[in-house]
Amino acid sequence: MKVIQVWDIQTRIFHWSLVVFVLCSLVTADFLRFFGIDLVNKDAWLAFHIGTGTAVGILLSFRIFWGLRGPRYSRFNSLRLSIAELCAYFHSVIKNVKTSYTGHNPAASWSALCIIALGLLEVISGAVVFGLDERRGMLGFLYLDFHSYADSIKLLHLGFAYALMAIIFGHICGVLNETIRHKTGIIMAMLSGKKLSDEPETPFVPGASLATVSFAWVLSPFIVAIYFSTSMETRQPINLEIPPIYRKECGSCHMAFPPNALPAESWKHMMANLMDHFGDDASIDETAQREIEAYLVQNSAERSHEEPSIKFLRSIGTAGLPLRITDIPYWKEKHKPLDQSIYGRVTIKSRINCVACHKWSEYGSFEDSDIRIPKN
Ligand code: HEC
Ligand code: HEC
Repeated sequence: MKVIQVWDIQTRIFHWSLVVFVLCSLVTADFLRFFGIDLVNKDAWLAFHIGTGTAVGILLSFRIFWGLRGPRYSRFNSLRLSIAELCAYFHSVIKNVKTSYTGHNPAASWSALCIIALGLLEVISGAVVFGLDERRGMLGFLYLDFHSYADSIKLLHLGFAYALMAIIFGHICGVLNETIRHKTGIIMAMLSGKKLSDEPETPFVPGASLATVSFAWVLSPFIVAIYFSTSMETRQPINLEIPPIYRKECGSCHMAFPPNALPAESWKHMMANLMDHFGDDASIDETAQREIEAYLVQNSAERSHEEPSIKFLRSIGTAGLPLRITDIPYWKEKHKPLDQSIYGRVTIKSRINCVACHKWSEYGSFEDSDIRIPKN
């Protein structure tokens, strides 16, 4: 037995960067809320999650390339994928018999393959969710036609994440078994690249172009992750012209509400009953009334592609026509966590003062990144 070079530098960079980026993606994932951990500025965390997730995608694509073009023990054809060998390996684990493999042992071969496959599914489903749910990223164009599938794909994204974690957990158990029971030092081997083996060393000297491409590929995720995490724009408010007459007539007693927060029928009903407007007389002259009604109806929830509008309409369902935005089930559900006393703060005054907490609400935009609850 002698010490030979088993893991080349690119494979080691790949392995440890994957550990870092998968961990980062995990802690910034939304499912932390199941454990009662609520991320404060969701959009900043989401940007980070998208950055690290993209990095994982690039790393995995590198690994596939390296599995075909890399050195001997990194190649897919050196993986031990026979089921009989896998059973024999587990048998030896149970019997506590020390085994010696120069490259991947059968369990490590399977976990490598599963991690690559599940990792890719996780990245792809994540990109789809980002497009369908947020109308952002490369797949944002799918939003208009396929938004209704967002929740199902999100569930899939979550499922792949759990499967991936289970495999990683198994892989770590295997590593601990090797390290603690058999003292094979495989963690050090993944750092130094060297292992004790009785196989002859197979030197790997990539040509200049292969070396350049592989280093650029395996290191690029760091740049990509930093770029996405810091530069992702929050969405611009929707391009809506608010007619001055609307601001003047309907923005005097309260804010000028966004037209896409109520269905057209609700607006029509409200405009026809201005003399009895929630106990006030809000009647206005006929031309102004017609102009305002046209604006509200033309930009009503049904006409909007904004996510809150779609969710408002969906939650109203058959519940009957809402006369208030604050009567809509989705509105109630979203604001239930807020303590009632918040609405008493002088800068807020009332729950119908949406603009106090949602900067762009007059334009019908309610992005999480724009929510700020004034302190007093
Ligand atoms: C004279 C004052 C006044 C004027 C003018 C006025 N409103 Fe109101 N509006 C009110 C009051 C009072 C309420 C109920 C406030 C509350 O519940 O705290 C209200 C509530 C509303 C609500 C429901 C808010 C919620 O709870 O979701 C909408 C929508 C609304 N107004 C639209 C309009 C529109 C459109 C116009 C212009 C045609 C208008 N208002 C003009 C006084 C006014
Ligand atoms: C006191 C601050 C406050 C006021 C006033 C307020 N909101 Fe909110 N709103 C919030 C907070 C905080 C959330 C986020 C809740 C969450 O995601 O857990 C939220 C969430 C929402 C959402 C969901 C956004 C999404 O991601 O789908 C919509 C839509 C919304 N608010 C609309 C309104 C409208 C319309 C009004 C006025 C009638 C209003 N809000 C008034 C604080 C406020």
